[in-house]
Amino acid sequence: MCFHFYIHYFLLLLLLNQSHLGASQLDLNYYSDSCPNAETIVKEEVTKLYHKHGNTAVSWVRNLFHDCMVKSCDASILLDEDQTSGIESEKLSSRNFGMRNFKYINTIKEALENECPATVSCADIVALSARDGVELLGGPRIEMKTGRKDSRESYAAVVEDFLPNHNDTISLVLSRFQAIGVDQEGTVALLGAHSVGRVHCVNLVNRLYPTVDPTLDPDYAEYLKRRCPTPDPDPNAVEYARNDLETPMVLDNMFYKHLLSHEGLLLVDQQLASDPSTLPFVENMAADNTYFHDQFARAMIIMSENNPLIGDQGEIRTHCSRLNAS
Ligand code: HEM
Ligand SMILES: *[C@@H]1O[C@H](CO)[C@@H](O)[C@H](O)[C@H]1NC(C)=O
Repeated sequence: MCFHFYIHYFLLLLLLNQSHLGASQLDLNYYSDSCPNAETIVKEEVTKLYHKHGNTAVSWVRNLFHDCMVKSCDASILLDEDQTSGIESEKLSSRNFGMRNFKYINTIKEALENECPATVSCADIVALSARDGVELLGGPRIEMKTGRKDSRESYAAVVEDFLPNHNDTISLVLSRFQAIGVDQEGTVALLGAHSVGRVHCVNLVNRLYPTVDPTLDPDYAEYLKRRCPTPDPDPNAVEYARNDLETPMVLDNMFYKHLLSHEGLLLVDQQLASDPSTLPFVENMAADNTYFHDQFARAMIIMSENNPLIGDQGEIRTHCSRLNAS
C-alpha cells in the first residue's frame, strides 16, 4: 500500500516534471494544443495590415531587434509609459526614435484574444509578426519557435547599453551581437534589414555637415543633402531618406551592393564594407541573394531566442502595451 503510494507519487512527479520541462522552453508550434490557429491568425492579420500600410511589415522586423537585443525577447518594447505601475516606456529612448505602427500590434492581439483569450503572448506576436513581415517583404520564410512570456518590467534605463547607435564603431557593434550569440556573418546579414524602410535626418546629418564624409559617394551625398538640407533637422518635421532607393520595400541584397558602391546610409552600415573582418561577407551577400537570405534567417532565429521568459516566468499580457492588473 505504502509502496504503491510511493510508486504513484514518483510517477506523478515524473509526469509533472516532464510537463514542466515541456512548458519551460521554446518549441516549434508551441500553441498547437492551446491555440491551434495562432500562427495562421498572426499571418492573416500581418498580411491584411501589409496590404493597408506596407510599412507595418518593416516595423515588425525592427521590433524584433529592439525587443530581443535589450535583455530578452519579452515584448518589453511594447509597454507604454504608466505612472501607476511605474513603467518607463522603452519607446521614449532616443535609440528607439522613429519606431512606428505600434498601434497595429493591438489589431493582431485582438484577433488572437477573440479566438484564444489570454493564451498567446505579446512576445510571440513580436517574433511571429517579424517573420511574417520578412516573408511579405520578399525575404526568406523563417521557422520560429514560440512559447515566450511577456515581461512585467521595461528596461528603459539600460536600452543604450544594448542597442548600438547609428555611428558606433564596428567593433562595438560586433561585440553587442556576439553577446546574444550572433557571429560576424550573422551580424552582417541582420544589418541587411536596412534594405527596407527609412532613416530620419537626425541620424544622417553627422555624415553631411559640416563636411561630407569622404567615404560617401559624392552623387549619393548630394541626394542625401537634398533630403536633409540643414545640419539641425527638426525631429518633428519628418525629414528622412529611404534606405534603398531602388527596392525600398524588398528585403534583398541591394543593401550590400550599395555598401560596395559607397552608398551606405548609416555609418554602421558603411563600416561593414570598410572593415576587413566583415567585408568578405558583404561581398558574398552582394553577389548572392540566396546566401544573404539563408544567413538572415539563421541570425533572426538566434536573435529571436535571446533569453526568453519561459514557463511560469512573466505573464501573458491581455493588452500588449500594458501589464495585466496584478
Ligand atoms: C548596429 C545595429 C543597428 C543600428 C545602429 C540601427 C540603427 C537604425 C537607425 C538609426 C534607423 C533609422 C531610424 C529612423 O531614423 O527612423 C534604423 C532603421 C531600421 N532598422 Fe536598424 N539598426 C541596427 C540594426 C538593425 C537590425 C538588426 C534590424 C532587424 C533585423 C534593423 C531593422 C531596421 C528597420 C527595418 C529599419 C527601418 C524602420 C522604418 O522604416 O520604420 N536594424 N536602424
Ligand atoms: C553620434 O551621433 C550623435 C547624434 O546622433 C552625437 O551626439 C554623437 O556625438 C556621435 N558620436 C560620435 C562618436 O561621433
